[in-house]
Amino acid sequence: MQFLIPLLLLATLWTAFAKRVVHNWDITYVTTSRGFDQKPKLGIAVNRTFPLPVVRASKGDMLVLHVHNSLDVPTSLHAHGIFQNNTNYYDGAGMVTECSIAPGTDFTYEIPLNQAGTYWTHGHTAEQNFDGLRTPLIIDDPDEPYTYDGEYLFAFEDWSISTIGELKPLMDDVNLTEFRKKPLPLTLVNGASANYTPPMHFSPGKTYRIRLLAMQNMLMVEFSINQHTLDVIEVDGALTKRRPMQAVRINPGQRVSVLVRAKQSLASNYAYHVSVTHYFSPIPPGFVQPLYNGTVVYAEDAELAPVESILSEPFDEVSLESLDESPLLIPDRSLFLNATIGYSVQNVYKDTFNNVEFMEPLVPTMFSALTLGHRSLNPFMYGPQTNAHVLKHLEVVELLLYQTRDVPHPLHLHGHNFQVVARGLVNDTTGKYHREVKPGQSPVTRDTIFLINGEYAIVRFRADNPGIWMFHCHVAIHAVRGLMMVFVEALDVMQQRIKVPQSVVSQCRRQGIKTTGNVVGNMGYNIAGAPRSSDLLLVSPDGIIR
Ligand SMILES: *[C@@H]1O[C@H](CO)[C@@H](O)[C@H](O)[C@H]1NC(C)=O
Ligand SMILES: *[C@@H]1O[C@H](CO)[C@@H](O)[C@H](O)[C@H]1NC(C)=O
Ligand SMILES: *[C@@H]1O[C@H](CO)[C@@H](O)[C@H](O)[C@H]1NC(C)=O
Ligand SMILES: *[C@@H]1O[C@H](CO)[C@@H](O)[C@H](O)[C@H]1NC(C)=O
Ligand SMILES: *[C@@H]1O[C@H](CO)[C@@H](O)[C@H](O)[C@H]1NC(C)=O
Ligand SMILES: *[C@@H]1O[C@H](CO)[C@@H](O)[C@H](O)[C@H]1NC(C)=O
Repeated sequence: MQFLIPLLLLATLWTAFAKRVVHNWDITYVTTSRGFDQKPKLGIAVNRTFPLPVVRASKGDMLVLHVHNSLDVPTSLHAHGIFQNNTNYYDGAGMVTECSIAPGTDFTYEIPLNQAGTYWTHGHTAEQNFDGLRTPLIIDDPDEPYTYDGEYLFAFEDWSISTIGELKPLMDDVNLTEFRKKPLPLTLVNGASANYTPPMHFSPGKTYRIRLLAMQNMLMVEFSINQHTLDVIEVDGALTKRRPMQAVRINPGQRVSVLVRAKQSLASNYAYHVSVTHYFSPIPPGFVQPLYNGTVVYAEDAELAPVESILSEPFDEVSLESLDESPLLIPDRSLFLNATIGYSVQNVYKDTFNNVEFMEPLVPTMFSALTLGHRSLNPFMYGPQTNAHVLKHLEVVELLLYQTRDVPHPLHLHGHNFQVVARGLVNDTTGKYHREVKPGQSPVTRDTIFLINGEYAIVRFRADNPGIWMFHCHVAIHAVRGLMMVFVEALDVMQQRIKVPQSVVSQCRRQGIKTTGNVVGNMGYNIAGAPRSSDLLLVSPDGIIR
C-alpha cells in the first residue's frame, strides 16, 4: 500500500502533463515557384499554403494529425525518426504499413511521442516529400539535460523546377540525357529562399541551441558561424556528449543540434554560412556551388566582423559519444547490403540493395505479417521485390552498408536508431581510412547514415520494436528507382501485440486492397501476379556514364 500511493500520484501527474497536439491538415496541390525567379510547378502543401505548419510538442504528448486528402492520388505521412512502438500502422509507409489515404477521404494519425529532439513529418507515398509535403516536428523534453537560453531552427529544403512525377521517367534513361538538362534545385531555409537568410540575435554570454534539419532531397548542406564554435549535442533525435566542431554537414533526412556560446561583447556582429557543398545529381560544368551568408546580430549598429570562409569538414560521427552511455551492441547476425546501380534488359536505370529493385507489394507487408501465422516467417511470402528480411525479437542486427559507385546515399531506417560502429573506403587496401568506435566508447546512434561514393559503414541495432520497418535511400529519385527494402521484425510478438485500428483497414477496403494473405493476397504459397522486375544486369565499371 505504501508504495502504491506514489505510483498512482505519478500516473496522475503524467496524464496531467501529457496533452493532445491536434493538427488539421488538408493536403492540397498548389502551383508556385516558392518565391524563386523560375517557372511555377505543381507542389503539394497543406491548406494550399507553403511552408507547412511546424509541429511542436513535448515528450509524452499524443500527436493527432487529422488529414483530408484533396489530391487526386493517395497520400500518407511518415513521422521521420519516431519509433512508432506498437503503432506500426501509423508509420506512413504506403503499401508497407498502410494502404495510404484514398483521394477525397479523411484519416487520423494518433502518434504517441515518447522521444524528444528534432524530427520531421513528410509524405511517404510516391515520394510526395519531393514536391513539398514536409515540415519540422520538434519535441521538447521537460527534463532536457542541456541548458540553453534560446533556440533557432534551420529547416533546409530544396525546390526543383520539375515534379518527381516529371523526373521519374527521365531517370529511365541510363545516360540521363534529358535529366542532365534540368536545372539544379534551389535552396530554401524555413520555407523561404536561402537568399534571405534571417538574422540570429545573440545576447552576450547566452547559449543558443541551433537545430539543423535536412528536409532536402538532392543537396548536402554545411552550416558554420564565423568565430563561434558549434558544440554538437544531438544527432537524429538522440543526445550526444558535447563535441566542438567548426562546421556541421547535414544530408537528406538527418538532423543535428548544436549549442553555441555567445561572445561576451556587443562590439561586432558575425556572418554565418549555409553552403551547398554537394548535389546528388550531375552538375553542369562551370557551375559555382551556392554559399548563403546570414548575420548573427549582437547590436544593430555594430560592425560586421570580417567575413571568413570556414574550412569545410566531414561530419565525424564515429568518434561522437552517446549521452546515455549505452554500451556498444554485440551482433547476433550480420547482413551485407550493397547499394548497387543496375539496369534492366530494357536499359532502364535502377538503384537497388543487393540487385533487388523494391516494388510495392499488392498487400501491405504489415497485413501479410499479421495474417499468415507461421508462414509469415518466410520472406518469400512478401514477394520478390519487397526485399523483406525477417528479424527475431531482440536479436542484435549488424548491417554492413556498402557502396562502390559514384552516387552518394543517405540511408534511413524506420522504427529505430542504429549505432554507428565503423566507416571506411571500399577501395582502401591499407586500412588507413577505416575508423571505428574505441573500446569502452558508447557509439552515437542515428536513423539516417550518409555514405559517400565508395564508402562502407557498419551500423547495429536491437530488434526491440516489433513491426515492419523500411530501410531506404532518402534521395527521392533513388528511392523511386528501387533503393528500398523492408525489415519484418519480431513476428511472434507483433502478431500478439499489434491491433490495427478499423480506420486503417477501411482505407484499404475503399481502395480495393486486400488486408490478408501474402504479397498478392493468397493464404497459401501461390504468389502468381506479384510485382516482378525484370532481371537486372550489373553496370560494368567502364559501362554507363552518369
Ligand atoms: C486548415 O484548414 C482547416 C479547415 O479546413 C482548419 O481546421 C485548419 O486549422 C487549417 N490548418 C492550417 C495549418 O492552416
Ligand atoms: C548511352 O550512351 C552510350 C555510350 O555513349 C551509348 O552507346 C548508348 O546507346 C546510350 N544509350 C541510350 C539509351 O541512349
Ligand atoms: C559569403 O561569405 C563568403 C566568405 O565565407 C564569401 O566568399 C561570399 O562571397 C559571401 N557570399 C555572399 C553572397 O555574400
Ligand atoms: C556491389 O555492387 C557493385 C555494383 O554496383 C558491384 O560492382 C560490386 O562487385 C558489389 N560488391 C560486392 C562485394 O558484392
Ligand atoms: C578510392 O575511393 C575514393 C572515394 O570514392 C576516391 O576518392 C579515391 O580516388 C579512390 N582511390 C583509388 C585508388 O581508386
Ligand atoms: C519498444 O517498447 C519496448 C517495451 O514495450 C521496449 O523494450 C523497446 O526498447 C522499445 N523499442 C523502441 C525502438 O522504442
